[in-house]
Amino acid sequence: MKSSKGIRKQFLDFFRQKTHEIVPSAPIVVKDDPSLMFTNAGMNQFKDVFLGLKSPTSTRVADTQKCLRVSGKHNDLEEVGHDTYHHTMFEMLGNWSFGDYYKKEAIAWAWELLTEGFGLEPDRLYATIFGGDPTDGLEKDDEAVNEWSNFLPEERILPYGRKDNFWEMGDTGPCGPCSEIHIDLRPEKDRKKVDGATLVNSDHPQVVEIWNLVFIQFNRKADSSLEELPAKHVDTGMGFERLVMAIQNRQSTYDIDLFDHMKAYLKERTGLTYEKASDIEQVAIRVVMDHIRAVAFAIADGQIPSNTGAGYVIRRILRRASRYAFSYLHIHEPFLFELIDLMVDEYQEVFPELVQQKDFVQRIIQSEEKGFLRKLESGTQLFQEYLKEHPKEKTIEGAFAFKLYDTFGFPIDLTELMAREVKKKVDMEGFQQLLEEQKERSRSATAVQTGDWVAVNPSSDLPRFLGYDMLELDTRIQQYRTVKAKKKTLYQIVLEETPFYAESGGQVGDRGTLKNGAETLRVLDTQKENELIVHLVDKLPSSPGGTWTAQVDPSLRRKTRINHTATHILHAALRETLGTHVEQRGSLVSEKSLRFDFSHFSRVEPEELTRIEQIVNERITAAIPLQEYREVPIDKAKGMGAMALFGEKYGDLVRVIVFDPDYSVELCGGTHARNTSEIQVFKILSEGSVAAGVRRIEALTADGALHFFQEKVATLDRIGAQLKSNKPLDEAVEDLLEKHKELEKQLQAVNAEKVGQLKKELLEKSTKHNGIHLIKEVVLVSSSDDLKQLSYELRKSTSNTLIVLGALINDKPLLSVILSNDLAEKKTYNAGQMIRTLAKEIQGGGGGQDFYATAGGKKKEGLKDALDKVVELI
Ligand code: SER
Repeated sequence: MKSSKGIRKQFLDFFRQKTHEIVPSAPIVVKDDPSLMFTNAGMNQFKDVFLGLKSPTSTRVADTQKCLRVSGKHNDLEEVGHDTYHHTMFEMLGNWSFGDYYKKEAIAWAWELLTEGFGLEPDRLYATIFGGDPTDGLEKDDEAVNEWSNFLPEERILPYGRKDNFWEMGDTGPCGPCSEIHIDLRPEKDRKKVDGATLVNSDHPQVVEIWNLVFIQFNRKADSSLEELPAKHVDTGMGFERLVMAIQNRQSTYDIDLFDHMKAYLKERTGLTYEKASDIEQVAIRVVMDHIRAVAFAIADGQIPSNTGAGYVIRRILRRASRYAFSYLHIHEPFLFELIDLMVDEYQEVFPELVQQKDFVQRIIQSEEKGFLRKLESGTQLFQEYLKEHPKEKTIEGAFAFKLYDTFGFPIDLTELMAREVKKKVDMEGFQQLLEEQKERSRSATAVQTGDWVAVNPSSDLPRFLGYDMLELDTRIQQYRTVKAKKKTLYQIVLEETPFYAESGGQVGDRGTLKNGAETLRVLDTQKENELIVHLVDKLPSSPGGTWTAQVDPSLRRKTRINHTATHILHAALRETLGTHVEQRGSLVSEKSLRFDFSHFSRVEPEELTRIEQIVNERITAAIPLQEYREVPIDKAKGMGAMALFGEKYGDLVRVIVFDPDYSVELCGGTHARNTSEIQVFKILSEGSVAAGVRRIEALTADGALHFFQEKVATLDRIGAQLKSNKPLDEAVEDLLEKHKELEKQLQAVNAEKVGQLKKELLEKSTKHNGIHLIKEVVLVSSSDDLKQLSYELRKSTSNTLIVLGALINDKPLLSVILSNDLAEKKTYNAGQMIRTLAKEIQGGGGGQDFYATAGGKKKEGLKDALDKVVELI
């Protein structure tokens, strides 16, 4: 049997022989395309090449790409696990032609590889082709039919419409008709009964698409019209797991050798053999095996689980796996992280990033699992309480299910499952409505309508960034468009040349102005969209033509570049102090401050922080000049000691920033101080945790740090003046604290005496009702603690007694009910229940234990009524 590793290699070798350049997979997490969170197709990394904005390094390329389809146009998350052939994360084998070969070769080579190369039976294969679309004004793809007819009989070439056979990456962008290859893997006898052609595109688990050949020739615009691209391209994508399923002759993608390790692990752990497990157990096993891959690759490419954006998607996938394992495989402690070891064995040759980051990925996953299991526990407790409070209702309120979902991360099917176990249902309609409302809120908060680019000086050249060397230059507007977000309308402008730095590598985008004669546009931000540098401006240029002077705000840039340099020095100082396991995990460099996230597994101790701060300041004093190297071949840069960051896409030529070749060498596209002395001074503001194994330092430099020191000194001066002491400040504060302690002791003694006095008085006021003693009184105490102490004191000195006290604390009524020990044991009276009735009189609520309960309220006049009510209750 061919192994999956061998099959992957054979694919790449085949196209290598057809003179394709084999390139590495792009990171699975997308950083500079606002229309995409994760790589969802092999072609993502070539979007600019298709649009004619960037020249490819080679016109023929092939690779295996890590893909994740859990958001946006291509989202398979909910299906995954329930059927036997969908995945969130999968590998896509692809070959590309950029303006080189087209349909003829693409189809012929696909056929050759599948049948001769991989030995798939030709009569099990079907090709679908684009049947045309009247709305887009497109004809049937006869060219594809022609090419296929060299290999397939007419009845196995099947036309489909736009939904199936016109491929688009998202709402806009490169697209074109496609031709999919489907395979019928059913046993011979089933094939005789039902013609495979009738099962194509009908979600049959054994008649599945394996390869999609897309003929990219259009760009879908925002108004949904199609624009011809300057050249025609081929983009093919073959689902690796499905191909292996076909070659290894398996029923499901989850049955291929790639998952053998994980199945064996789960068997050992749970005693379940996948093949013999129940349906729902099989679903759970598939969910676990699929999701762990998605999560592991995303984390290895820099996406840590979090509460927003892409991080939230990853967190949800991880929780889905964790909770399927919890409910159906009965694994109640963290275990997913252990699967990473098995993945490393499987992928070390193709995706080395996973091997290099194994420890880090495992720690993050383990800590996420722990966190989620804790939530599961507290959510389950809440669920039990809910059941107690609603003993009779058959339906669990939608709002409660939503609370579990929203606050405790409970997937709704988990709540449904728990409800079923106690023979109840969940009000799904109510839940759905709340979910919709929440979605709507976030949609309207982030909804952005982007118009089409309007060309002013059309060009196929990408804008040039000249901002390393100049902050001002004269240029022309290449194109602009309108962006509507919330209630604001803004405009985006692309210049032919620009001094504006677009946000990337943690450094914020430049701000400044664009001037043309009397007209000034304010540049509010600069962002990257793939390779485009996009300036966000406040208004539409009245006459976009002509020459514009682009000027970056020099003061903002100066502060930002100083902070960027400080970040590099800090990085080096961290490695020097804490060790070389420290690696950058993220950063934010603005004109105000800098933030640096790095891998380190414990708190950075105060002495270490002081040392780090000191080292950075020494480097500042050493006045180290900047050495900047542009267009360095990546290998040479690494040879200089520069470290590549995981999840970053580097070209063949990179920029290297050096501050002392023996100290700080980094691959960096950011702007920098010319000399470390520009930083003037460096001050760490805080150190804390971002995620398991990731720490964050925030710091200030130059004017920001100076300002910080001034403020601190001013505060200290003010405190000194208030203390009116001749002693040094810290001694004066110590004296004050001593005095405070002393006074507190005295106060406690006075209070104790008062409580003793009160207790005596109250004991004398005890009356008898219905066979028990009752003490009820509104008392004068100054805190809820005093009231509690008094109640407990009374309890100790009485028997067969109910004590109900009221008090006004900060003008708010407070009630307490306590039972003497013997009375509590009899269980005739329950303090918790009693307080709920009494609290109504003061318009409040409360609770507690059976023998002691308290309640706060709003209506102070009600205190007396509450006390009178007690007599009634007895
Ligand atoms: N872009 C196509 C797909 O993702 C082919 O690679 O299916």
